[in-house]
Amino acid sequence: MQVFHSIKSLQVFLKSERLAGKSVGFVPTMGALHNGHLSLIEASKKQNELTVCSIFVNPTQFNNAQDLVVYPRTLEADCQMLDSAGCDAVFAPSVEEMYPQLPHLKFDFGDLERVMEGKFRPGHFNGVGIVVSKLFNIVQPDHAYFGQKDLQQCAVINRLVKDLSFSLTLNICPTQRETDGLAMSSRNRNLSPEQRNLAPAIYKSLQQASDLLRNKKSGEEAKTLVSEYLSKVEGIDLEYFEISDFETLQPINELLEGQTALCIAAFMGKTRLIDNVII
Ligand code: PAJ
Repeated sequence: MQVFHSIKSLQVFLKSERLAGKSVGFVPTMGALHNGHLSLIEASKKQNELTVCSIFVNPTQFNNAQDLVVYPRTLEADCQMLDSAGCDAVFAPSVEEMYPQLPHLKFDFGDLERVMEGKFRPGHFNGVGIVVSKLFNIVQPDHAYFGQKDLQQCAVINRLVKDLSFSLTLNICPTQRETDGLAMSSRNRNLSPEQRNLAPAIYKSLQQASDLLRNKKSGEEAKTLVSEYLSKVEGIDLEYFEISDFETLQPINELLEGQTALCIAAFMGKTRLIDNVII
């Protein structure tokens, strides 16, 4: 596996691989890798002759300065994991390499970013749009892989690809969970052992809300259940729980079979966790 820090060196490598007729799969990440990330690498390896993973903690998508400071950075261990997973190339640029100047361009994803993550993290999806556009232009992949864990991000990237005519196929991969149901996340490393024990309650609340909706209860009842259930768990502060159409992400009040996303964000101390299920 080759590791590149500069755009130029990565592009020289990719040009020769493409001339050899290889299709390129791309997995953008912010590092601190876990099996959720590796499932995307695996998906890319099945569909492409060459898999590129980027590792870049993107400052422009952090609306909270402290969150950026404490975001885990583990490049060496990440590269070992990627090598074992059979990834072909890693692109790990510095902030200066990606942002020689701060971008002036601003993205507005419309209704998609007025809800949930967009509403509670102003500017977040602008930063995601900027960095993912840059990375797509640099790597020019045939396929790109994203996780359903960040459902709203998937919808935003889908809009980005359509609006800017990026010539690639988006692939959305299922959320990987720990055995107790907690969605894998780089931020789980910042949980204390006590917080880690309690964190699966977030996914449990989603499962209970799903059961209620499947039993024809209303969205209001599901919302009450989630907030009451989580209020009883010490140390979990619910930020939002939304019942949404899984494509438009706009709120709905009852189950649309196969189309309904239950999305949640909660704090455990300073650590913010998100999760969702589609029913
Ligand atoms: P990061 O949080 O590192 O996630 C990288 C990719 O891994 C995203 O597509 C995310 O949805 C996926 N992922 C994370 N946890 C997962 C899990 N438990 N199961 C399956 N997939 C999972 O998302 C970002 O980075 C950034 O916003 C990025 C797109 C790289 C732009 O900076």
